[in-house]
Amino acid sequence: MYKDFFGFKQPPFPITPNPNFFYLSSEHLEALDHLIYGINNGEGFLLLVGGIGTGKTTISRVLLEKLGDNLKTSLILNPFINELEFLQTILWDFGLIPEDNSKKSLLDQLNDFLLHDVAAKGKRALLIIDEAQNLGLDILEQVRILSNLETNKEKLLQILLIGQEELYFKLQLPELRQLNQRISVRYYLKPLKKKEVAEYIYHRINKGEPAVEIKFSKKAIKRIYKFSGGIPRVINMLCDRALLAAFVQEKTSISPVMVKKAEKSLRGENFDELDKEQEKRGLFKKIFKRKKAREMKNEFNL
Ligand SMILES: Nc1ncnc2c1ncn2[C@@H]1O[C@H](COP(=O)(O)OP(=O)(O)O)[C@@H](O)[C@H]1O
Ligand SMILES: [Mg+2]
Repeated sequence: MYKDFFGFKQPPFPITPNPNFFYLSSEHLEALDHLIYGINNGEGFLLLVGGIGTGKTTISRVLLEKLGDNLKTSLILNPFINELEFLQTILWDFGLIPEDNSKKSLLDQLNDFLLHDVAAKGKRALLIIDEAQNLGLDILEQVRILSNLETNKEKLLQILLIGQEELYFKLQLPELRQLNQRISVRYYLKPLKKKEVAEYIYHRINKGEPAVEIKFSKKAIKRIYKFSGGIPRVINMLCDRALLAAFVQEKTSISPVMVKKAEKSLRGENFDELDKEQEKRGLFKKIFKRKKAREMKNEFNL
């Protein structure tokens, strides 16, 4: 692997949401500001929506680090669960052992905990649900019920829903109108801006602590921006492959040709013929331009 060639202490472009690699782009900063303000302000319902790979999960990790000890949190990462499992997971996350397996008793237990161990002690409790676009209507109804837990002064449980764009549209369904109306803080996370892409790349390279100086040419960066549309996860995948291409050539400067190689390898080498065929028909360009980011996502199950 190229790690040794460049002398990286850590791989710079893993696709896991690691808060240590966090780059504070204008979008990420604004999203965090909104969420931190909302949570500190005791808002009951918050929403973070964004395309695949834009950094939503990463933001939730950074958020948890920033909010500190006075906040009890439960994090639901897999929304393909039933109502009982949903409530049980929340209890476990808060350090409770579910006493009974009826919805009512789980809710009572949670309410009791939130009243006596959280609110009474001046603490807060936050439930974060990631990939919330996949939540079934039954769980969303449960979420609404949870948002009813309150004293006459404040919400007992703050809820942050995180999801892809579908979540935003799902929340507009008539069945979910009540829930949607309760969301008081919303943020739509967009990809990195063109001028941030180079900074992002060097930020991650530096976090990897290479032993040599690594340079991306301006054209290489431009190409990365074009292909990725500024989506961090796609940038990571491209840079990872581009570094591999550089390593193969024993170079420490990344050229546009290496990025092109990376694009090819991401799309699958032997699809070239098919691409050419399409191009001949004049279709490819049109479709590719419009759906570039979407295709990447589907192809790699991002
Ligand atoms: N602001 C950022 N700083 C550093 N890395 C980021 C940032 N945003 C996203 N990433 C990286 O991009 C990839 C996708 O991020 P992730 O949070 O999983 O996206 P999402 O949850 O929106 O699909 C991860 O490797 C993550 O580390
Ligand atoms: Mg995610």
